[in-house]
Amino acid sequence: MSFDLSICCMGAGYVGGPTMAVIAKNCPNIRVCVVDLNAKQIDAWNSAELPIYEPGLKEVVESCRGKNLFFSTSIESEIALADIVFISVNTPTKTQGIGAGRAANIKNCELCARTIAKVATTNKIVVEKSTVPVRTADAVRRVLACNDKGLEFQVLSNPEFLAEGTAIDDLEKPSRVLIGGEETPGGQAAIAKLVSVYANWVPSSQIITTNLWSSELSKLVANAFLAQRVSSINSISALCESTGADVSEISRAIGSDPRIGPRFLQSSVGFGGSCFQKDILNLVYLCETFGLDECAEYWHQVIKMNDYQKSRFTQKMVSRMFNTATGKKIAILGFAFKKDTGDTRETASAFVCRDLMQEKARLHVYDPQVKREQMMIEFDYTLNVNTTTEPDLEKLITTETDVYKACEGAHAIAVLTEWDEFKGLDYERIYKGMSKPAFVFDGRNVVDIKTLREIGFEVYAIGKPWPKE
Ligand code: NAD
Ligand code: UDX
Repeated sequence: MSFDLSICCMGAGYVGGPTMAVIAKNCPNIRVCVVDLNAKQIDAWNSAELPIYEPGLKEVVESCRGKNLFFSTSIESEIALADIVFISVNTPTKTQGIGAGRAANIKNCELCARTIAKVATTNKIVVEKSTVPVRTADAVRRVLACNDKGLEFQVLSNPEFLAEGTAIDDLEKPSRVLIGGEETPGGQAAIAKLVSVYANWVPSSQIITTNLWSSELSKLVANAFLAQRVSSINSISALCESTGADVSEISRAIGSDPRIGPRFLQSSVGFGGSCFQKDILNLVYLCETFGLDECAEYWHQVIKMNDYQKSRFTQKMVSRMFNTATGKKIAILGFAFKKDTGDTRETASAFVCRDLMQEKARLHVYDPQVKREQMMIEFDYTLNVNTTTEPDLEKLITTETDVYKACEGAHAIAVLTEWDEFKGLDYERIYKGMSKPAFVFDGRNVVDIKTLREIGFEVYAIGKPWPKE
């Protein structure tokens, strides 16, 4: 079959895979190929068990795979074939060197640009899909311009706003698509080309075009604003626990003001995910680079509040359990950073578990979508970033595939991800099997406090009044 256009996406991760699947579904005349250095990842995309869990993703992939959607490790030949190359690779926070712990590492983006420059034989539009520091497009453009084949490349910024767990809905019905390009005829033509791809299913009123730097910066700012709302309501949750106010009532009351709006006011044990912390640190570093120390400190506070929220939750758990968790079995319900995903990057659950492990609690962790292997990888990372070691990790952590087994004989349950199934558990049965007093610490406000108290549990929920000790 012949196609009107060919797209290659470098990076088959949480963004590249779903985004390209939705483009393929909505644009049958476009050939879409997602490439990756990681052969295991590509094999999984070509199998019945996709490498990521995302509601609705499997159906979309299966409807297009082998028709106009392909997954491949033939990076060079697929780039050569493409009219448009998306760069959708990971851009993690630097762990060493200049800007360590703050700046985003864009080495993968640069490497992509070098590969494109090396293997291209025709002019191409190169689209930054990854979240990057402002002016990364300049670096990409300069690397591409060094080709000695007389080829012309246009660089666009097209940041992705999907959230995990709702990726397919977000991609099918985006609140907006943002495209930044150069303010030259070539740049404007490239923008028009990319607009024409999205216009296959996104109303033109929702496609925003702008210049490169505004587009790049908008992505960091969007995530900073969202995370700031979570930290703001979490700061209020601490006040609610001390004063007798109820954080859900506060969210309802303030969220009905249209100037504030109801979303992202759900108090929690802390935000996680691969984006919020990384992107705010990236913003903080940018501010510092330009000598804007007050602006840097303002945004840094969003992360400090999140760290405070995670550690204060564990402290309160321990203090309620008579100031000791040593040797106690604690059931951890939920390990993913939010419901409807198996992603554990920066999950608050791992930080709470780390702190409980340091108290020598015995943790039994249950999550419907996270496998033991992934939990252990995350624990290793969480312990390492804080330069603590836990020689007894394997002994202190038991992973469970049955939620009731996780709770059997436990002194306490900590709900750390808001999976819907945690609302409908047989809490009578769970209560009977637990050590008494049986504690429930709800870090997501999912359990029905009144019913659980009637059963006999001591329930403490984030942002709800906690009786004086
Ligand atoms: P990811 O780690 O899931 O996937 C990145 C993939 O890129 C990996 O499979 C890796 O092997 C591959 N890769 C790295 N270098 C490569 C190269 N040179 N050639 C080919 N493949 C290469 O990352 P992700 O979550 O998909 O995020 C990608 C980018 O999108 C990041 O910049 C992130 O900040 C941004 N973003 C992520 C989300 C999200 O929800 N995860 C949402 C919006 C934006
Ligand atoms: C985020 C942005 O929402 C998305 O636009 C961007 O493209 C990637 O980063 P994601 O991290 O996948 O998406 O999920 P999101 O729904 O934003 O949640 C992030 C974290 O905040 C989760 O841990 C979630 O549980 C927490 N959260 C969110 C709250 O604690 N309360 C809320 O009200 C909302």
